[in-house]
Amino acid sequence: MRVDILSLFPDYFRGPFDVSILKRAIESGLLDIQLVDIRDFAQKRGNYSKVDDRPYGGGPGMVLMPEPVCEAIRSRKTEKSHVIYLSPQGKKLTAAKCQELSQKEHLVLLCGHYEGVDERALKEVDEEISIGDYVLTNGCLAAIVLIDAMARFIPGVLGHDEAAGQDSFQEGIFDAPHYTRPETFEGIPVPEVLKTGNHAEIAKWRRKQGLAKTKRVRPDLSLQYLKENQDETE
Ligand SMILES: C[S@@+](CC[C@H](N)C(=O)[O-])C[C@H]1O[C@@H](n2cnc3c(N)ncnc32)[C@H](O)[C@@H]1O
Repeated sequence: MRVDILSLFPDYFRGPFDVSILKRAIESGLLDIQLVDIRDFAQKRGNYSKVDDRPYGGGPGMVLMPEPVCEAIRSRKTEKSHVIYLSPQGKKLTAAKCQELSQKEHLVLLCGHYEGVDERALKEVDEEISIGDYVLTNGCLAAIVLIDAMARFIPGVLGHDEAAGQDSFQEGIFDAPHYTRPETFEGIPVPEVLKTGNHAEIAKWRRKQGLAKTKRVRPDLSLQYLKENQDETE
């Protein structure tokens, strides 16, 4: 999959994609990430490229101008592209959305800054996505979060041992707690069932633990889950 990230800070992305799973995905050609500087599409004023201006109607902050934003998007967009504006006003990112996006051929991610982008530039955008109900200083971190969470669903990105299928949210509830060596840590033993080798019992225990924590921490999710799986109890 190809992902073009449009931002004012291409340097922001040096690091997150240079390590571990995402680095391997890029090296193996499963993921092709291109960085686009919106400033390259601004009108030059001497040595300075102007990308923002004061808001009509007054108020604090600056607004990204529509011309460089639209030109940057159009420079990468084809009929196969899906253009996303990372925005606190978008639909909240979920695992299901990440899975859906992982099937696209080409994503163009627009990262805003300052007060955001001129509303008229959004005609080039297919959807707005938020990574949560809070406001970041710019969209770069949100783009990194989206790519990281989405790339896990691209076939081949995770090794067999890391498969996403059993992770939290895949079945609508949290993953089970995990344990490794030592068998006892500071007086706390590994639960007996995990050492029995009885896979059916282990799966049952894991499901029960995952559901119990979901109920405690995210009653909204557990209610939905129990509605859809009425034969299952805690
Ligand atoms: C300071 S924010 C602008 C906030 C805007 N004035 C508002 O209140 O809706 C600057 C940029 O950060 C990004 N951003 C901030 N919070 C975000 C979130 N929760 N999810 C995704 N992107 C976000 C967007 O790209 C946005 O254009």
